[in-house]
Amino acid sequence: MKITVYPTSDYVEDRDIKDKIVVVIDVLRATSTIITALYNGCKEIIPTADIEDAVNISKNYEKDTFILGGERNAVKIEGFHLSNSPREYSRERVENKTVLITTTNGTKAITRALDAKEVVLASFINISAVYEYIAAAGSDISIICAGTMGKFSADDILVAGALIKGLEDKGVSLQLDDLGMVAKRMYLNSKDDLHGALSETLHYSILKDLGLQGDLDDCLKLDTAPIVPIYSDGVVRA
Ligand code: MLT
Repeated sequence: MKITVYPTSDYVEDRDIKDKIVVVIDVLRATSTIITALYNGCKEIIPTADIEDAVNISKNYEKDTFILGGERNAVKIEGFHLSNSPREYSRERVENKTVLITTTNGTKAITRALDAKEVVLASFINISAVYEYIAAAGSDISIICAGTMGKFSADDILVAGALIKGLEDKGVSLQLDDLGMVAKRMYLNSKDDLHGALSETLHYSILKDLGLQGDLDDCLKLDTAPIVPIYSDGVVRA
């Protein structure tokens, strides 16, 4: 299986995703939040790159059947119901609802992959479910990391490394590109202390400074939401 890793969605060309299975990672926090909402029974998620698109799409829904969620620079968008914290997307808040979500980098990366053969969303909280699924699918994959503020982000690369390690442990023969090799090594060096490995990185520090240590704790746990969200025709479903 050939694995190609992209540090942000800005590096992705159409030919990189066409006819490919694409895995999108934004562990802090968009994919972690989306996976949590689906695990807690939300009906579907509609990710949009722009705030305006999310607001316009929401006009098609009856009051109380949808939730507008998201952030810019990690802070809740004015007028939205929820921010981008996995903790906000509890079963009580989201069950049977459509969640429209827009985030600074994560939903941009997800929507960038729209034309892929299949798009899978990954984070630490569903990592085993994702590598089981990818191993069974057996075809080459592109991993798109969301990054932070348009730049490479170590947190997403660690999840890419965990996915690669999981596939190797299952006996899948892998052909890695250079970033895939770096991701695997970085994960192996960091897996026993993910918080320590990330504590001085940009996105981790931003969330910590905003008092969101609980989000960091939740996002860096393994396999707490064992589902495989698939993005297709503009909608993510478990
Ligand atoms: C993003 O999409 O850039 C992130 O999810 C930002 C955040 O931590 O809210």
